[in-house]
Amino acid sequence: MDARIKAVIPAAGLGTRFLPATKAMPKEMLPVVDKPAIQYVVEEAVSAGIDDILVIVGRNKNALANHFDRVLELEHTLEQKGDHKKLSHVTAASALADIFFVRQGDPKGLGHAVLRSRKHVGDETFAVMLGDDLIDARDPLLSRMVEVSQTRSATVVALMEVDPSQIHLYGCADVEATDEDDVVTIKALVEKPSADDAPSNLAIIGRYVLKPEIFDILEQTPPGKGGEIQLTDALATLADDEQIAGPVLGVIFRGRRYDTGDRLDYLKSSLQLALDRDDLGPELAAWIRDIAPTL
Ligand code: UTP
Repeated sequence: MDARIKAVIPAAGLGTRFLPATKAMPKEMLPVVDKPAIQYVVEEAVSAGIDDILVIVGRNKNALANHFDRVLELEHTLEQKGDHKKLSHVTAASALADIFFVRQGDPKGLGHAVLRSRKHVGDETFAVMLGDDLIDARDPLLSRMVEVSQTRSATVVALMEVDPSQIHLYGCADVEATDEDDVVTIKALVEKPSADDAPSNLAIIGRYVLKPEIFDILEQTPPGKGGEIQLTDALATLADDEQIAGPVLGVIFRGRRYDTGDRLDYLKSSLQLALDRDDLGPELAAWIRDIAPTL
């Protein structure tokens, strides 16, 4: 794939569902097992060949910026102790890619956050990856989306089937099949519809490959649901008129995804990812089996 593509990670939301943990820390910095959620997302970008990442930050910028910076004091202490394993944990985040930060200012919605990346991105196709939405490293998604975007000259959104009772939490797509099993044409998009109004059970999840035309559309998109400028509304405008920037396609993701912005899903994600690990999984599984009968 084209390694020149840049990624944008919006991480300036208020994270109100996670208060008070997110009072002084962005939700993207919450640890999932032993890494902040956003580090998984940066690692995903890097494994898709991306080495230029812009993080859109809010009022708690420092925690994010510090995490991806070097900590010479800590590195020095661990080096002196000869603790190379821990040292590699400290240096890993800062060595991943070129990471840039820009402030959103007012948190006026995901669409507004994406608009803040305009100068950095320029006139190129780029990826948007939500910093609280984790895709399992064993189920690659982004590289497939970039491939579809390039071969079909399209805007590409990741879609996942959800239970109809959950669709009100997501943007929802009205779709038509294409000649590829995992690719659909998006005819229309609705932000957080009720189960009755939803055109399908295909939810937008937090990965997008966008063309630069999205910026002009976002500039003109009025605040929608919740008084926020919604990325879904801008995508709906593109889907409505192919003349603007070509088709809007969905890549249907059937792999493992972890939503860390919601408390219950966060707990499940942490457990699942810990269970998968050799160093923690066996003991954790034994403990879960132990307590399960008492629940
Ligand atoms: P969410 O709606 O999940 O984030 O936004 P939120 O508003 O922080 O969450 P709650 O509902 O209050 O708990 C999806 C993504 O868009 C980013 C968030 O950081 C998250 O990655 N976002 C949202 C911004 O960067 N800026 C915004 O103004 C809104």
